[in-house]
Amino acid sequence: MPLLAKRLDLIQPSPSVSAMNRAKTLAAAGEDICNMAAGEPDFPTPPHIVEAAARAMRDGATRYTATDGTAALKNAIAAKFERENHLAVTTANISVASGAKQIIYNAFTCTINAGDEVIVPAPYWVSYPDIVKLNGGVPVFVTAPAEQRFKMTQQQLADALTPRTKWLVLNSPNNPSGAIYSEGELRGFAQVLRDHPQVHVMTDDIYEHLIYDGLVHSTFAHVNPDLADRTLTINGVSKTYAMTGFRIGYASGPVELIKAMEKLQSQSTSNPAAVSQAAAVAALNGPLSFFAEWRNAYKMRRDRVVALLHGKAGLDCPTPDGAFYAYVSCATQIGKTTLGGKLIKDDSDFVMYLLDDFKVATVQGAAYGISPAFRISFATSMDVIEKACHRIIHACKALR
Ligand SMILES: Cc1ncc(COP(=O)(O)O)c(C=O)c1O
Repeated sequence: MPLLAKRLDLIQPSPSVSAMNRAKTLAAAGEDICNMAAGEPDFPTPPHIVEAAARAMRDGATRYTATDGTAALKNAIAAKFERENHLAVTTANISVASGAKQIIYNAFTCTINAGDEVIVPAPYWVSYPDIVKLNGGVPVFVTAPAEQRFKMTQQQLADALTPRTKWLVLNSPNNPSGAIYSEGELRGFAQVLRDHPQVHVMTDDIYEHLIYDGLVHSTFAHVNPDLADRTLTINGVSKTYAMTGFRIGYASGPVELIKAMEKLQSQSTSNPAAVSQAAAVAALNGPLSFFAEWRNAYKMRRDRVVALLHGKAGLDCPTPDGAFYAYVSCATQIGKTTLGGKLIKDDSDFVMYLLDDFKVATVQGAAYGISPAFRISFATSMDVIEKACHRIIHACKALR
């Protein structure tokens, strides 16, 4: 009898986590790696949050807490949803987990039966389809290419819906493309969904503050209040507050679902780490003024990446509206051969070539559902960006 369960064959290790780990291992071995694979802010966690965590530990935040979040954190989250997203929610609507990823995991595990469909617009964050599959569901991909500015249309949504559709996943700003749905587009999706009362909406808003050029973030449940009772609004402290290692994500949604997620979590992690919850309270109740400087830095880096790559050596790098990734088409590089005689068959080959021959770590588009492309994270210093982009151009020019 094999040790491992069959369902594990349904999923892959997270490609972005793998790429980041590979880059870190090579760098630790002394290689001069430009790491453009990381999905986390390079800024340090703001000191007032770190201080609050240290203080909380000294004050006894070292024990189990309530299963899906302390009262203090749930209150801070309810206040945040009201202040920033104009959602009127009570603590009964709120769930806290060890990262937004666990929130997504909990929500799908609590709701998906074998064969249930989940609409996932592509390009998508790598974990949605695999968590759906692990739970016996079927991801239904809707392709939203660069020509559509990486955004699903209302008609595409209407065409993808079936009586088996359980969830629609919306991620705005999007990882990996940076695409942002406007208020009007969110209203359009709601118009379609009103005829399909069995469909719930999972909106992953984790990059909500990473928006450039004066664009604004719209929250689905605020824009479409009549659908709020079938929307799970997901967020977390990882990206906004540079707190990836604290592992705190949260959501607001219908009480029935929130309670089910609590039940599931009581049999998995018991609760998110007490000290991390205390740090998240300090983050959400504290100032966000520091973020203007971060956003400005990300914007300058974004502009530099686009200036260095777009239209150069056959690359197509559309300007992302949000998040800290650029999704670059490498279509013109496919079918070419490296100096060492290796054929670049697809974007996975291209990304391996960038890493092996030019020491630049990126992630292949195949992981995100739109190929041939690669994802660059610009959550890194301007020096690394300059060096990496020059290496990428050099790599493209060296192909025959
Ligand atoms: C779109 C998206 N959602 C969720 C997450 C997970 O965030 P967390 O650190 O809260 O688990 C990420 C992390 O990369 C992400 O890009």
